[in-house]
Amino acid sequence: MQTVVVTGAAQGVGKVVAQTFAQAGWAVVLADIQPLDALLAELTGAGHTASALSGDQSDPAYAAALADHVAQHHGGTDVLVNNAGISFITPAEQISLDQWQRVMAVNLTGPFLLSQALGQQMLARGSGAIVNVASVAGLGGVIHRAAYNASKHGLVGLTRTLAAEWGGRGVRCNAVCPGWIKTEMDAKDMGSGAYTDADIVNRVPLARFASPEDIAGAILFLATAPFVNGVCLPVDGGWNADSSWDALRLKTRG
Ligand SMILES: NC(=O)c1ccc[n+]([C@@H]2O[C@H](COP(=O)([O-])OP(=O)(O)OC[C@H]3O[C@@H](n4cnc5c(N)ncnc54)[C@H](O)[C@@H]3O)[C@@H](O)[C@H]2O)c1
Repeated sequence: MQTVVVTGAAQGVGKVVAQTFAQAGWAVVLADIQPLDALLAELTGAGHTASALSGDQSDPAYAAALADHVAQHHGGTDVLVNNAGISFITPAEQISLDQWQRVMAVNLTGPFLLSQALGQQMLARGSGAIVNVASVAGLGGVIHRAAYNASKHGLVGLTRTLAAEWGGRGVRCNAVCPGWIKTEMDAKDMGSGAYTDADIVNRVPLARFASPEDIAGAILFLATAPFVNGVCLPVDGGWNADSSWDALRLKTRG
């Protein structure tokens, strides 16, 4: 049985990723700063193999503890899904150094530390894969998200570099770059008045938000596609492909 470590598994995309891999027959290690008891009980209750370790992924001690946990309980890691992240929406000129550093610590340093700690197990075996959850905000600028966007651009850079550096030793690294997804993160951001449903739906060629299932399917593909390495795959309903203006796009919808 193959083992996947999923960060940010307590809710949103990570929860659905964990459920998707479990249903596909993988052993799943749940990771999050929040308690994971409910999802762990759900998965083991349904007969799946799962374990959990909560902690803050920006803490190097947590990365080491998670690597030990996986080695002890599952014999190593086949796939790491670096999904956990935090949103941060503030005009660039108002971001404090502490705020900037926290976003970087969670969204970029955390995935690096976990890639390093769990990647060592993969490199020792000569096989494995990492899938990072970046964002369309890792491929282009979005106003009022300087810290978040810089962290996601960094994650895209880390993805490409690990793909180049570890590919020859059997470890692939790819990323998904989702558009806006209906999750707790989105509810909180929208609750702050940052954007509306219509803002997103009007901008996306497929005329809807992503679902967590849309993202989980792409992650499972990248985790298991043996010759795909270094790809930062937009899962955005066509957002990146479309340079039209909104009125023109809306005309095509009839
Ligand atoms: N929701 C969107 O519209 C959207 C769009 C593009 C990319 N993303 C990215 O997708 C990923 C998942 O987002 P989501 O929408 O499910 O968000 P979410 O807020 O619903 O879930 C994120 C999870 O990460 C966990 N987490 C936060 N800080 C942590 C830390 N320091 N250590 C460990 N775990 C921590 C949270 O507890 C939570 O369970 C994130 O990386 C996010 O940036 C989200």
